[in-house]
Amino acid sequence: MDAVTGVVIPDEAELRRRVGRLSLEQKIRLLTGADFWALYDEPEVGLRRLVLSDGPAGVRGESWDERDSSANVPSATALAATWDTGRVEAIGLLLAREARRKGVDVLLAPTVNLHRTPYAGRCFECFSEDPLLTARIGAAYVRSLQRSGVGATVKHFVGNDSETQRMTVDVRIDERTLRELYLAPFEAIVRDAGAWAVMAAYNGVNGSPMTEGLLLRDILHGEWGYDGLVMSDWTAAHTTEATAQAALDLAMPGPASLYGPWGKALLDAVGKGAVDEALIDDKVVRILRLAARVGALADGPVPPELAVEAADSVAVAQELRAAAAASFVLARNDGLLPLPRYEPADRPGLGRPLHLAVIGPNAEVARTMGGGSATVFPPYTISPLEGLRNAGLHVTYAPGVTSHLRGGAARAPWLLRPDRVADAGTGAEIRFLSEAGELAGSELRDGATFMWLSGFATSGVTEPVARLEARCVIRATAGGEYQLGVSGLGRYRLLVDGAEAFDATLTLPEDSDISEALMRPPQQLAPVQLAAGQSIDVVVEHDVNSSPFVRLGTLVQLNLVPPHGTDDEEIAAAAALAAASDAAVVVVGTTADVESEGFDRTTLALPGRQDELVRQVLAANPRTVVVVNSGAPVLLPWAQDAAAVLLSWFGGQEYGDALADVLLGDVEPGGRLPMTWPASEEGLPSTQPVDGVLTYHEGLFIGYRAYDRDGREPLFPFGHGIGYTTWAHESVTMDQAPAGAPGVAVCVQVRNTGSRRGRETVQVYASRPDSAVERPAKWLAGFAIVDADPGETVTVGILVPERAFQHWTGDGWSTEPGSFVLSAGSSSASLPLTTRVDLP
Ligand code: BGC
Repeated sequence: MDAVTGVVIPDEAELRRRVGRLSLEQKIRLLTGADFWALYDEPEVGLRRLVLSDGPAGVRGESWDERDSSANVPSATALAATWDTGRVEAIGLLLAREARRKGVDVLLAPTVNLHRTPYAGRCFECFSEDPLLTARIGAAYVRSLQRSGVGATVKHFVGNDSETQRMTVDVRIDERTLRELYLAPFEAIVRDAGAWAVMAAYNGVNGSPMTEGLLLRDILHGEWGYDGLVMSDWTAAHTTEATAQAALDLAMPGPASLYGPWGKALLDAVGKGAVDEALIDDKVVRILRLAARVGALADGPVPPELAVEAADSVAVAQELRAAAAASFVLARNDGLLPLPRYEPADRPGLGRPLHLAVIGPNAEVARTMGGGSATVFPPYTISPLEGLRNAGLHVTYAPGVTSHLRGGAARAPWLLRPDRVADAGTGAEIRFLSEAGELAGSELRDGATFMWLSGFATSGVTEPVARLEARCVIRATAGGEYQLGVSGLGRYRLLVDGAEAFDATLTLPEDSDISEALMRPPQQLAPVQLAAGQSIDVVVEHDVNSSPFVRLGTLVQLNLVPPHGTDDEEIAAAAALAAASDAAVVVVGTTADVESEGFDRTTLALPGRQDELVRQVLAANPRTVVVVNSGAPVLLPWAQDAAAVLLSWFGGQEYGDALADVLLGDVEPGGRLPMTWPASEEGLPSTQPVDGVLTYHEGLFIGYRAYDRDGREPLFPFGHGIGYTTWAHESVTMDQAPAGAPGVAVCVQVRNTGSRRGRETVQVYASRPDSAVERPAKWLAGFAIVDADPGETVTVGILVPERAFQHWTGDGWSTEPGSFVLSAGSSSASLPLTTRVDLP
């Protein structure tokens, strides 16, 4: 029986009996994917095809485009910022339903690497800088997925905390740091939530690649008793024997004739005795066990029924809107928020609707998710501008500046399908041509980003394709200079009304990461002067085989930059608009060029001249709220001058409506920071390997642990966030831990001292003055959420696990006898209550 879900799965003996029916060839075939996202079926043992899919921000499914849309949930940082395991379980259930709707058995999520440094490109995809918070949020995510019969894949095991040279880097982590920080979330999730799959990372740790390393067998299997499956990250397995001997069970993607080191080579290795067949059997047992757990094994358990809804249904929207609002961290508020709906504010309903200036590039086109394998195609997204308009305010928009370093994907109202196609709408027509120039297929698409991984089967084309054509019409709204172009890799021709605008070969350095190639591909733009209302025919031709990544995938993105003023002109216009409005909301943020899988950030500054924009708007209207739309910290050098600062992550498809809910006070901003928000770039760990080696010199001291040690002040501390009411933290006392729960319990009493109902995240940190071992000044040891009415006092019990008092000695976990201090409060920098616990 599965310890967490209670589902009865075939026991080891039964699984082995089934494996015994297979030949060596049949067994080895199962160990590499059948294609990019699926495992082989094997009727002989009742195994059906099993489908895996990214990822943390939604369930992509087997195709990766707008034709098969996915509910887009808030980023991992947003989920962690809720500090609310119940909320995360609800998102897990939503994802499980999405998985069922899309025929996905195993989700390639959650990502539980730590925010070692905010430069890391994938910070948005990881929960926190703190292992305990990561573990709790990750366990809730895994538990709810798996309770619904959908497998979770905890990734990337381990030390994949940044992107630079991620496929080859050797990460050096001292053993105590590895145990206490980076392995800790994996351990908790494997042990407590019973994860069914783990993904071995690309990188090495302390000299061995993770797909070959001893950590898999010794720690995962040996110490933690893991009975699930280990799959490689995509193309991470390189050797035949070493990976087979390590506890790697599945090499992805497949088939073995194209990718991965197993298949025939592994058959030969077993044949000549270099790899024991018993190891192969063990891997197949684990594949069958996973299959049984997700309902892919005939005569195995049947997963629970789940009602599935479309990604754009009302229920999905409500859940995502509430989750986004619960994640927003109100970092500063001098009383400006919540905004009144009417002006004057003291005559609700009698005044006129508030005249609100909405400013900033991310207000119009919000980022609802980060880039990389976590990218999904949502059925719609609500921008801040739309959300505030939907709320009935009198809204006027000014972009302020251009923050994108590259042209964005072409979109409505400019992008139209070719006129001659009957049901013209936003989008393009794609034509697939053979070497001989014959039409092998064509399709009408809604968007401007066209991506195919490993062939064109998702477009129904199975013959070899030599050339692609994307055809569309661009219709100018205003007159002026438009930039038109294409992003991708290889040779592209752009034709405007039949005349060649360019014939360019777009390249990246040879050792570039596939994710960078897909998410930040090189781009070529050409200026085109258009009159208002003018339409032009645009064709992009691409030689498929000219891309160095053709084996993995093909990308064509049509780009369009509409006419705009200079940044000076746009900033002046935005400031004038703010001055003439009752209040302003400036939405600043990162772009697709900045936060993504495949590359790290080189600066934490907001891209473009957004800081200048904020300063000018603050000067023009003191009633200005700055909303930050980023997945991870950015520098906010003007923060102390802003009346209100709301950190809102990548908020998922309901982002804009959730923002309106919070800005207008219909919903409490529920988030607390899951990471320290830096005031400057000083003292932050680097992501840059030296000679292929990235040493975690800072050891245990990441995030708030480093700020405490160095006596540096962050801009906003770990755990920080305010709501719309105020709290008094009144007392902390030791309590009896529940029977069977190793650890201690504390009771914390808090009172809502404000005038509206609210929610507080009570945090408990441990510390050990005069410790015999080096330790951080304090570390998160437990937390709980309380809701209370004005004047209400609530007492909440918080369990502090045994592990919170232990340190790794090299031989195992040890508890230093004597007194530990437990401090409670509202953030890592505000801990008014303390108590002591004496341990034997
Ligand atoms: C990423 C994984 C992802 C896999 C499949 C890799 O490049 O690192 O997180 O699950 O691709 O898309």
